[in-house]
Amino acid sequence: MAQDSRSNPSFVLKAIQQVAIEDIPIPEITDPYDVIVHIGQTGICGSDIHYWQRGRIGDFILNSPIVLGHESAGRIVSVGKAVKSLKAGDMVAIEPGVPCRHCNYCRSGSYNLCPDTVFAATPPHNGTLSRFYKTSADFCYRLPDHLNLEDGALCEPVACAVQICRVGLVRGGQNVVVFGCGPIGLLVQSVAKAFGARYVLGVDINKGRLEMAKSVMKSADDVFEPPQAPAGLSQDEEMEFHAKVAALIKEEFNLGDGPDVVIDATGAQSCLQIGVQLCKKGGMYVQAGMGKENAVFPIMTACIRDLTIRGSIRYVAGVYPTAIDLVASGKVQPQKLVTHRFPFEKAEEAFETVKKGGEGVMKVLIEGVHN
Ligand SMILES: *[C@@H]1O[C@H](CO)[C@@H](O)[C@H](O)[C@H]1NC(C)=O
Ligand SMILES: [Zn+2]
Ligand SMILES: [Zn+2]
Repeated sequence: MAQDSRSNPSFVLKAIQQVAIEDIPIPEITDPYDVIVHIGQTGICGSDIHYWQRGRIGDFILNSPIVLGHESAGRIVSVGKAVKSLKAGDMVAIEPGVPCRHCNYCRSGSYNLCPDTVFAATPPHNGTLSRFYKTSADFCYRLPDHLNLEDGALCEPVACAVQICRVGLVRGGQNVVVFGCGPIGLLVQSVAKAFGARYVLGVDINKGRLEMAKSVMKSADDVFEPPQAPAGLSQDEEMEFHAKVAALIKEEFNLGDGPDVVIDATGAQSCLQIGVQLCKKGGMYVQAGMGKENAVFPIMTACIRDLTIRGSIRYVAGVYPTAIDLVASGKVQPQKLVTHRFPFEKAEEAFETVKKGGEGVMKVLIEGVHN
């Protein structure tokens, strides 16, 4: 790897399924609030894999090469002249989306909905898998000294989980069921606990992941492996099958009328069908997983049970600081998710590992370019 002070090696998605390490221009401070960060650690997320494999997520389409990566932490290299809160050498977690700050969404605090957000590794914006990355000072959070850059990078999925629990209004005394025991599902379970949930049930069809929830993260009080619907059912039969699974869960785990909050971190049709039918009357269902674009949805149940159904995307004001706090206090321990670490030169291997997935692959980190 080039160690030249003028080089900026970056992991570039050139076209669908085509990546390479290339040198791109070193960013320069142009706005007085800019900072340049030397990237130290980056986690890989499902959306990175999605762009790499398919070149698009919804309306965001890869039309020209972009640098990948958005879950990063690093050290400040230089700051613009208006920056007072940070200085060279500071260790920061990078919130990867910088909104416009002027539209009505931004002004009301819901900047996750800003249409002009510059989000790392969302076309056409470059991501963080570079030696140096430029962003705004107010979207960099100084890490407490006892945390390291891996913790900092892992604050991104924790922030997603905090947002999901906030959207779901998860609070003290509640029963919460989380579908999915991948990185986001497990972190949602941990954050729900930290927010005071009295009981958390984790659901997944993968035994290794259920084991993670129960014994490694200790994020769920109980775990459940749902039976899978037999092939060849009609739409109505499939819904009926899932209604029975929902009834079984209520019975087996003493959930009475159903949990207060159901969070789906899978996006699978089976999970949303079970989840909506599981929710208690007047309860909350949060769609956090992105799976199928469209699904057969138990709309009548949602209506007559007076359910609140919400989506969750990115994070709003105050979420990143909460995430860092939860990690700093040890209430949420994302380090336990890390299964693989790769040096920057092996970024492609890291991506292949996540793509292949399977037993034993949870969170994969890529180290930054050494100085
Ligand atoms: C973004 O990355 C591409 C390479 O994929 C590079 O050509 C371009 O200069 C980068 N843009 C910025 C602003 O650094
Ligand atoms: Zn992510
Ligand atoms: Zn805005």
